Amino acid sequence: MKSQSSTPILDALVECCDKETIHFDVPGHKGGKGLAYFDTILREKGLRLDINSAKPVDLLNNPSGVIKQAQALAAETFNADHCFFMVGGTTAAVHAMIMSTCKPGEKIIVPRNSHESVIKGLVLSGAVPIYVQPGISKRLGITNGVSMADIKEAINRNRDARAVLLMNPTYYGATSNISEIVRLAHSRGMVVLVDEAHGTHFGFHKDMPMSAMDAGADMSAVSMHKTGGSLTQSSMLLVKNGIVDSRSVMTTVQLMMTTSSSYLLLASLDAARKNLATMGDELVGRALELARDARNRINSIKGLYAFGGELINGDDIFGFDETKLGICVSGIGLSGFEVYDLLREKYNIQVELADGSNILAIVSLGDTRSDIDALVAALEDIIASHSGGKRQIEQPILINPYVVISPREAFYSPKRTVRLEDAEGEVSGESLMLYPHGIPIFAIGERITRDMIDYIKFLKKQSAVLVGTEDPGIEHIKILGM
Ligand SMILES: Cc1ncc(COP(=O)(O)O)c(C=O)c1O
Repeated sequence: MKSQSSTPILDALVECCDKETIHFDVPGHKGGKGLAYFDTILREKGLRLDINSAKPVDLLNNPSGVIKQAQALAAETFNADHCFFMVGGTTAAVHAMIMSTCKPGEKIIVPRNSHESVIKGLVLSGAVPIYVQPGISKRLGITNGVSMADIKEAINRNRDARAVLLMNPTYYGATSNISEIVRLAHSRGMVVLVDEAHGTHFGFHKDMPMSAMDAGADMSAVSMHKTGGSLTQSSMLLVKNGIVDSRSVMTTVQLMMTTSSSYLLLASLDAARKNLATMGDELVGRALELARDARNRINSIKGLYAFGGELINGDDIFGFDETKLGICVSGIGLSGFEVYDLLREKYNIQVELADGSNILAIVSLGDTRSDIDALVAALEDIIASHSGGKRQIEQPILINPYVVISPREAFYSPKRTVRLEDAEGEVSGESLMLYPHGIPIFAIGERITRDMIDYIKFLKKQSAVLVGTEDPGIEHIKILGM
């Protein structure tokens, strides 16, 4: 136990900050470079900006003044009818979307590679998931958007489903044919909800995939803090009036909200919106140019493959966000996890995530050419010192899970703990996610299979970060039953 005079989090934070790491992860402002105007004000005023609900700055729970004005400006910028500022991350926005749409027991069609916030939204709402298996790029070992045929089949087989939820885009940048899916779902009276955590910047440049609001979706949860430039944890819920009514969504939003929202977060949303509204085309265009340059240079290095728009296939990769710089490293004899660690430990470069075969660098508003040069140079150096040759990294892919009972029912059911090894065939009493992807390997209420157990063992061997279970070592897991 540390002494009471110590400040473990603050110390670690200051140490991280002093390292001057080059960031290819989120937040997208990259140390303030992508939100310079706000950064300057923060430096000048410091914590004097941290106030709590004084009259002149309005109230998030019942906005009638400056927050109402700022939300209206954001709605206009993002082509929505209404925008709710969120201070509980995109997780809260995803929860509010699902809870305001689905009653307990109602069906929602969701891609299996959805983020854990969706699964938790199912626990909160009591909605029952109908999973659609995403497309898979076998060569890369990654999941994509959903194919039109698969989503059509799910919609046709579940005419009573209340909603369809999509990801726009996946973590690695793939999008589905969102406008066609919206058209189909609406023709069956289904609400379309979009987890747009990684697509905040979509509406601002012609070379970006289509945004959810432009495609006519009913709601979209937009992580302004990821690629829009605002402070971590600030997010937005966008609403198009029609099947959905923003006034009834507001009741659910208020359910999720603290009564003491941070004005630092709210003001950063305002500043990031201004940036995108006034300079979005230029800012996103610059990030795109940097990402394209990096992709070309990395693809000239033997053994590396920086994938991009060539993956577009008109179906489960209907579009591709080129600012997501996914790099397949399996040709150099290292796993993505190993390259992720090397970049951080040896070159002070932080990429967003890794898996068995790939790393993902996120290029956004605050990046500079020298950051790209550093990434390319580090990768060249890694290649020079690791000539291990091609190593086939086994990368199992999720198979369609069997949902035994709804996540909410499972959440409230009696549970017991067993060894992971003995869990085959049991119904999971908790969810397990690979981080930072946040995609469940199994979700609460699903049948645990031998493939899942083997996949977990593979990930543990790779020192991947796994979260969600009570036992952090994942030797044991909770299953349903007395
Ligand atoms: C696809 C997706 N959806 C939702 C979220 C949740 O966002 P937040 O961390 O802002 O709560 C994330 C976070 O990484 C995500 O990747």
